Amino acid sequence: VSGARLPVLVIGTGYGGSVAALRLAQAGVDVHMVEMGMAWDTPGPDGKVFCNTLEPDHRSYWLRTRTKAPLNYFLGLPIDRDIPRHTGILDAEEFGGITVYQGRGVGGGSLVNGGMAVTPRRENFGAVLPSVDPAEMYGVYYPRANAELGVGTVDPDWFDSTECYRYARVGRKHAQRSGFPFVFVPDVYDWDHMEREAAGTAPKSALAGEILYGNNHGKKSLQQTYLARARATGRVSVSPLHRVVSVAPAGGGGYTVVAEQLDTGGAVTATKTVTADRVFFAAGSVGTSKLLVTLKATGALPLLNDEVGRGWGDNGNVMCGRANHLWDPTGRLQSAIPCAGIDNWAAGGAFAEVAPLPTGIETYASFYLTITANPHRARFSWNAAAGRVELDWRTAWKQPSIDMARTIFDRINAKEGTIYRTDLFGVYKIWGDHLTYHPLGGAVLGRATDHYGRLTAYPGLYVIDGALIPGNTTVNPFVTITALAERNIEKIIATDL
Ligand code: FDA
Repeated sequence: VSGARLPVLVIGTGYGGSVAALRLAQAGVDVHMVEMGMAWDTPGPDGKVFCNTLEPDHRSYWLRTRTKAPLNYFLGLPIDRDIPRHTGILDAEEFGGITVYQGRGVGGGSLVNGGMAVTPRRENFGAVLPSVDPAEMYGVYYPRANAELGVGTVDPDWFDSTECYRYARVGRKHAQRSGFPFVFVPDVYDWDHMEREAAGTAPKSALAGEILYGNNHGKKSLQQTYLARARATGRVSVSPLHRVVSVAPAGGGGYTVVAEQLDTGGAVTATKTVTADRVFFAAGSVGTSKLLVTLKATGALPLLNDEVGRGWGDNGNVMCGRANHLWDPTGRLQSAIPCAGIDNWAAGGAFAEVAPLPTGIETYASFYLTITANPHRARFSWNAAAGRVELDWRTAWKQPSIDMARTIFDRINAKEGTIYRTDLFGVYKIWGDHLTYHPLGGAVLGRATDHYGRLTAYPGLYVIDGALIPGNTTVNPFVTITALAERNIEKIIATDL
């Protein structure tokens, strides 16, 4: 409601924002959440809330007239197609040297991601969050995050027998024959539901190729976990299709927050102003960084420190495919939810997930998303002439990631007598090095903020999302984002309220 005075306003409804909302509400505080994307709670014309990965329609992309599939070629042919411009669920946000994929809607990235819920190995944690005590994270906050998110692992017996993980078993065989440790990757997908999908007794989602544009069944997104519990307190309200554009100190204390209401074509239909005693930036690494850099540069929050916008990384994401022999089919039916990985972090700086290619046809391809220890960090800055925030990442900075991924796949190819696929990212292009799914940093803990995410120049302003994490988590990031948010909000509730 325009003109209202709120105790707490949370910008964004992803992992960081949802943790903050639940814990503040449980502490007796009323919370209002503002989300630029749609609510994703209403079925479309086909009776489904989310559209299929193989049939992208208006629901698929955030304000684009053509899809921008991460894997954009098949057999050397481009697969993108025209779509109506709409406030769809997946944003492929283009910066100079990289396309950053992000979820848009109530639930943030949890709506579109693979649900892979991985806790970093404890020996790697010092590189993930150097200023945080590992004992408290591994003793309290990682277990709390895993429990609330509903993390589970595939039943190994079912894994060994089901057609839909043939591709992952091929991945295991090749990893083990080359001497790499193979690991099961936990996920928030409901594994019992997936077994029932395979048995034909539950509606298909993972087994119908749903993933990038949302899952209609089975996946425990934040809508089913943190946000459901937050709403059940009766203290949390959400405004979808509202984009925060300004936060500035208010005359009588607190902060004036300006939000633009959007229609589903992306046009601004109203501008609303509220005052909040406390504001949590939870717009994701890119969203929070863009807001803070803009607000500092344009004079709304001039006292933010010079670390704002710095320390951004891509979690070392790089993709590739391998062409298997005809005796290694990967299966026509592939679960869209990955469940297996190859861990070469210690020796080669690479953790590769065996990813599906749920095309419905036999491809004889193994496909991988590899997370690497890429050392490059980029910076967001305000371009006054263009009136927008830019990121100085360069495509060439992916080379260390490619080299690290090759420590796994060159060896497997040599052992198996196989080659890389060259038809998945262009015409004769091996590496998917133009994108990330895992933006991290831009308001790094202990640098842009204090050790709990406080923007100390402005009491009552906090960062509580992936922007806090300095560019890499060694594994998929959302469990770490959630656990860090749990740690920080507990401290903030105990000391600041
Ligand atoms: P998150 O991005 O989740 O939420 C931010 C929210 O703020 C969004 O809903 C956004 O619309 C909103 N927002 C932004 N600016 C705003 C503004 N100005 N006003 C109002 N609202 C605003 N991770 C993982 O661990 N395992 C996995 O399997 C995967 N897989 C994966 C696949 C794909 C396709 C993607 C795109 C991402 C993943 N990820 C992943 C990454 C994971 O989803 C991501 O790290 C988290 O969602 C980040 O959580 P945050 O809370 O930081 O922000």
